[in-house]
Amino acid sequence: MIKKAVIPAAGLGTRFLPATKAQPKEMLPIIDTPTIQYVVQEAVDSGIEDILIISGRNKRAMEDHFDRNVELEDRLAKEEKDTLFNEIRHIADMANIHYVRQKEILGLGDAIYYARFHTGNEPFAVLLGDTIINSVMPVTQQLIDVYEQYQATTVAVEVVPRDKVSRYGIVGGEKLSDHIMAIDQFIEKPSVQEAPSNLAIAGRYILTPEIYTALEQTPKGKNNELQLTDALMNLTHKEKVVSHTIQGKRYDIGNKLDYLKTTVEFALRRKEFAKPFYDYLKKIVEENDRPL
Ligand code: G1P
Repeated sequence: MIKKAVIPAAGLGTRFLPATKAQPKEMLPIIDTPTIQYVVQEAVDSGIEDILIISGRNKRAMEDHFDRNVELEDRLAKEEKDTLFNEIRHIADMANIHYVRQKEILGLGDAIYYARFHTGNEPFAVLLGDTIINSVMPVTQQLIDVYEQYQATTVAVEVVPRDKVSRYGIVGGEKLSDHIMAIDQFIEKPSVQEAPSNLAIAGRYILTPEIYTALEQTPKGKNNELQLTDALMNLTHKEKVVSHTIQGKRYDIGNKLDYLKTTVEFALRRKEFAKPFYDYLKKIVEENDRPL
């Protein structure tokens, strides 16, 4: 049973400046909901009850978001705005959320290492705080199912265009079924020539406590940071690690163009906006239909 999740959310958000100068990128909203709330919802929908957010300086807004706001609740109650009241109240009750601060930005591997006292001897899920995945079955649930079948560290992957491999952790291995592979290669942000495949790590993992020993034995890698991908490579020498090709669509909120696309797609899926927003987009596209 996987009951705990870790959400690394300490990054500086340099790809989204200046918006992220004084606020966390994880609080950037898609329409009206902060990115991190979608991520917490995915964990909750996958049966997770306990969440540790790896936070850092300038990240207080995340903690406030998952706390009560009594003045706001009083106001909404007085004004009989029941739907909003319930929505706001629910956010503070979504899960048991804990925080630990990463003191220096030393990489995703270093961030995960902060979770060792919290997760103890249990396997746990990792969901990157700047990545939303839209799917029928939550991707963390998909990973839990694979973990239960193989009893092995499980990493979510997706196919990316070959010219984009250098943006991701890339895996290589042997196919076990149509969506599962036994992984023997993990390379963080390889060049096209080095990449063993075009299967990219998609920001969701099920890790076992053995990852902490692997992290201790892993030297700094890309960007002089401790890379989770490198620790996973080390782990493959000791135990089985599998990948699961996700069923769903991934949105990287830390990237400006992806953020725009996410907002448009999510708005088109929202009942109250779908029709007027679609009509608006169509009109704008027609008016601007010219070669760039
Ligand atoms: C991180 C991981 C990388 C993974 C990516 C997915 O990189 O290190 O392996 O493919 O997330 O979004 P980052 O995007 O933080 O540079």
